[in-house]
Amino acid sequence: MIRYHVLTLFPEMICSAMETSITGRAISKGLLEIEAVNIRDYSDNKHFTVDDYPYGGGPGMVMKAEPVFRAHEAVKERIVSPCRTIYLTPQGRTFSQSMAEELAKEEDLIFLCGHYEGIDERVLEEIVTDYVSIGDYVLTGGELPALVMMDTISRLQQGVLHNGESAVLESFSDHLLEHPQYTRPEIWHEKKVPEVLLSGHHKKIAEWKLEESRKRTMQWRPDLLA
Ligand code: ADE
Repeated sequence: MIRYHVLTLFPEMICSAMETSITGRAISKGLLEIEAVNIRDYSDNKHFTVDDYPYGGGPGMVMKAEPVFRAHEAVKERIVSPCRTIYLTPQGRTFSQSMAEELAKEEDLIFLCGHYEGIDERVLEEIVTDYVSIGDYVLTGGELPALVMMDTISRLQQGVLHNGESAVLESFSDHLLEHPQYTRPEIWHEKKVPEVLLSGHHKKIAEWKLEESRKRTMQWRPDLLA
């Protein structure tokens, strides 16, 4: 059981994605909990502004420290033990399956999603424990990266996937890409399903899958074999 706490200006984006498909089913079953906290609710002024012009000039706006700090304090009150606060930024350490496996052991995770040109550095210094990027490209905000991370971590939680094996069998866990998959019909557009998969010969099928995984990895992601 893991609890996610997401500090964001767009809570509906977080909730609608997480309440869909497999993560949605896991929430209904009580295997995950998610709360999206609107940073705007913790604004320190009557106009509910959360951003301001950057000192020293430059384009865009910067998210103010105080609303982020207050939202984080409110979340911390609901958590018993100290927990990690992850700030999504292209400047962070690149997210990976092994990082997901580490984070999947936590009971609570706080995600901080920035927008505009970023967040006042001073509040980051006080609350952030991990700076994480999902890849070398720039998105408009941290919500999609937080969702990518939560989706990856969620499928590693006990009971979230129906077939208990699929979490360990997938690509990357053994540094190989997955073999190709087929379902009915047996012939489609004159292409036949590989004969061995219809043979019922479990050992041969396992060998074929491993060989296909190796071939595919060699062809598409030789860096994974290195
Ligand atoms: N915010 C904007 N781009 C991002 C990225 N690539 N990873 C994490 N957070 C981001």
